[in-house]
Amino acid sequence: MAKYRIAWLPGDGIGVDVLDAAKIVLDHLSLDAEILPGDIGWEFWRTEGDPLPQRTIDLLHQVDAALFGAITSKPSDSAEAELIPELQGKHLVYRSPIVRMRQLFDLYICLRPCKSYAGNPLNYKENIDIVVFRENTEDLYSGVEFAPVSEEISKLLATYSPNFSPFQGLAGDQFAISCKINTRLASQRIVRAAFEFARNHQRQKVTVIHKANVVRASDGLFLQAAREVAKDYPEIQCEETNVDAICMWLLKNPHNYDVLVAPNLYGDIISDLCAQMVGGLGFGCSGNIGEKLAVFEPTHGSAPKYAGQYKVNPIATILSVKMMLDWLGEAEKAKRLEAAVAEVIAEGKVRTYDMGGSHSTLEMAQAIAEKL
Ligand code: NAI
Ligand code: MG
Repeated sequence: MAKYRIAWLPGDGIGVDVLDAAKIVLDHLSLDAEILPGDIGWEFWRTEGDPLPQRTIDLLHQVDAALFGAITSKPSDSAEAELIPELQGKHLVYRSPIVRMRQLFDLYICLRPCKSYAGNPLNYKENIDIVVFRENTEDLYSGVEFAPVSEEISKLLATYSPNFSPFQGLAGDQFAISCKINTRLASQRIVRAAFEFARNHQRQKVTVIHKANVVRASDGLFLQAAREVAKDYPEIQCEETNVDAICMWLLKNPHNYDVLVAPNLYGDIISDLCAQMVGGLGFGCSGNIGEKLAVFEPTHGSAPKYAGQYKVNPIATILSVKMMLDWLGEAEKAKRLEAAVAEVIAEGKVRTYDMGGSHSTLEMAQAIAEKL
C-alpha cells in the first residue's frame, strides 16, 4: 500500500492543464502516493445537478490530501439555464464546490504564501516574502443570505435602526442581505495558526487585518480574539492594521510585512494583491487546511479561453504541490521542489506567456522536473 493517498481534482478548463503539469513533477519526485482522480466542477453541475458529487465527498474522506485545479462557476441566472433538461424544474441551487469543501471538511485555514523568486520578470519588487492566513469558513462567505428579503426580516431591520434605515419601506426584491458572521472560535484558531507558523518559521511579525472601527461587531470580535491569542506569543510582534490602509502600505513597503492574518473576505482580497506583487495568477499557490484534510490549489480560475491549450503557467500549481508535500511531512521533497522552481525562474530560459515567453505548460513542468 502506498504511504499517501491523494485525491486528484482537475475540475474545469485550465485546471486540467495545470494538474497534468503537476503530475510530471510529482512523478519525478517519486512520492510514494496513490493518486485518486475525483469529479468536481461545472460539468457535474450541468449533467448531474451537483458540482461536488457525493462520490467526491466520500473520496475526500479517504485521502490524506487533495490537489485541486480550478472550476468554472457562473452567476445563478445563467447557471440554471445550462442545466440538462431532465434536471430543470428541480429547484437546484448552485453552490460553489470550493466553499462547500471548505465548510464540509472544516478547512479553516486558507494559507497563501507570496514570495518573489529572483529573476521573475513579473516581480513588483525583489525579496518579497509574505504569508497570508485567511479565515476560510465564515465571515461574509458564511452563505447566510436573503434575496428576496422576507417581510419578517424587513420589519425587524426597520425596528433595529429606526433613525437611519435606507431600506425602510423597500419591497423584498429591492434589496438583498449577505450576513458577515464571525465566531470567536474561528477567529481564534486562524490567528493561532498564523502565530504558530510565525513561531515555527522564525518570522518576526504578525499583522492582524480588520475594519473594527466601522464594522464594530464582527471585526471587533475578530480583533479581540486576535489580541487574546497574541498574548501567548510574546516573542512575536503583533500589529493591527485596517484593511483599506494595508492595501496602500503593502504597495508602498511590501518588505515591512511578514505574516498577515485576516477574516475571510479581507484575506481573499489581500492575498490576490500580494500574489500580484510576486507574479500574478501564474504564481498564486494556496492550501485549504483543516485538522484532518488539506486541499491545495492554485488561486486562479479555469480561464476558459486557454482551456486545453497547455499555455498557462503551472508554477502556481507546482508551488501548491510544494505546500502539499510540507503538509504531508515530506519537507525534504518540498524543499527540493521549491529550489527547482527557483532555479528555472532564475535561469529564465523556460517561460510561459505570462512571463513573456512562449513555452508550454508541460515544458515548464518538464524543466522544473529536470532540476529535481
Ligand atoms: P481566471 O483566474 O480563470 O483567469 C483570468 C485570466 O488570468 C486568464 O484569462 C489568464 O489571462 C490569466 N491566468 C489565469 N491563470 C493563469 C495561469 N496559470 N497562467 C497564466 N495566466 C493565467 O479568472 P476568470 O477569467 O475571472 O474566471 C474564469 C472562471 O474561473 C470563472 O467561471 C470563475 O468563476 C472561475 N474561478 C474559479 C476559481 C477557482 O477554481 N478557485 C477562482 C477564480 C475564478
Ligand atoms: Mg480569490
